[in-house]
Amino acid sequence: MKRILVTGGGGFLGSHLCDRLVAQGHDILCVDNFFTGSKKNIAHLLQEPNFELMRHDVTFPLYVEVDEIYNLACPASPVHYQFDPVQTTKTSVHGAINMLGLAKRVKAKILQASTSEVYGDPVVHPQQEGYWGNVNPIGPRSCYDEGKRCAETLFFDYWRQHDLRIKVVRIFNTYGPRMHPNDGRVVSNFIMQALRGEDITIYGDGSQTRSFCYVDDLIDGMMAMMDTENGFTGPVNLGNDREFSMVELAERVIRLTGASSRFTFMPLPENDPQQRQPDIALASSTLGWRPTVPLEEGLRRTIAYFKSSS
Ligand SMILES: NC(=O)c1ccc[n+]([C@@H]2O[C@H](COP(=O)([O-])OP(=O)(O)OC[C@H]3O[C@@H](n4cnc5c(N)ncnc54)[C@H](O)[C@@H]3O)[C@@H](O)[C@H]2O)c1
Repeated sequence: MKRILVTGGGGFLGSHLCDRLVAQGHDILCVDNFFTGSKKNIAHLLQEPNFELMRHDVTFPLYVEVDEIYNLACPASPVHYQFDPVQTTKTSVHGAINMLGLAKRVKAKILQASTSEVYGDPVVHPQQEGYWGNVNPIGPRSCYDEGKRCAETLFFDYWRQHDLRIKVVRIFNTYGPRMHPNDGRVVSNFIMQALRGEDITIYGDGSQTRSFCYVDDLIDGMMAMMDTENGFTGPVNLGNDREFSMVELAERVIRLTGASSRFTFMPLPENDPQQRQPDIALASSTLGWRPTVPLEEGLRRTIAYFKSSS
């Protein structure tokens, strides 16, 4: 049994990770300031003897004794991370410094939830981990993209300078139950609009593609990464390599919800990448991982969640 800290444990991904780690019998400390997370996501865990919740902001130091740290604290959707961009950068950068400092003190292994946004608007497809990205440092998305890039830098400097056991995963679009219904992300947007019987808003002409990874698959990959041998740092892409256009996704959502929604087209937001697709060869060879839940099945489970919670 390990003592494991999950920052951002009250959020979408963090709460699923806590579920899995608690079920394995580890002693879990969930830390969250509930900026975008919700107590509802973890309410069912509060009675478990091996689960503990602490309200705390990771931009401040934390003194606890743990064996492993999963660092997920950070608002992840543009509406949330652009609400207070300075705090977003602080969460990524000061949060990383504080968690790395903690890992150094207690000799814990630490995993960073990085993002495909470190590739920016990529000029190579699909994106391999060796690609350095094409990121605007001064735009409205930069607080998130550059904050996450700086956090990666800090992880690798702590590894080189202090020999810390680090793991970095770059997460691509992930969806599933407990996503925020109003976070402006495409899967939740489409499902909520369809369930309300509204028309579905498509930005641009809808030909831009994205890949969508179901949450259970993503958590499998993260946990497999934490369990890799000490010398292996990543970064490793985690995501689904199957691409769908926005129009294809919208059509599926309409079919699975039985809605009669039509499409409304709006201009593309600034710096919105045209295409993003992970190369997951490294995850496959080093973690023996690849996503298994088909989009249709994942959407069905997510739609059921949104229906039951609305
Ligand atoms: N969901 C995705 O598709 C995706 C893609 C790429 C990367 N990620 C990364 O995975 C992590 C989790 O994302 P998510 O989708 O679960 O988002 P989320 O917003 O649901 O979860 C983030 C959690 O961090 C908490 N938090 C934010 N700032 C904090 C702070 N200063 N101190 C303590 N807690 C704080 C929030 O309250 C929330 O519970 C994030 O780091 C995100 O960047 C997610």
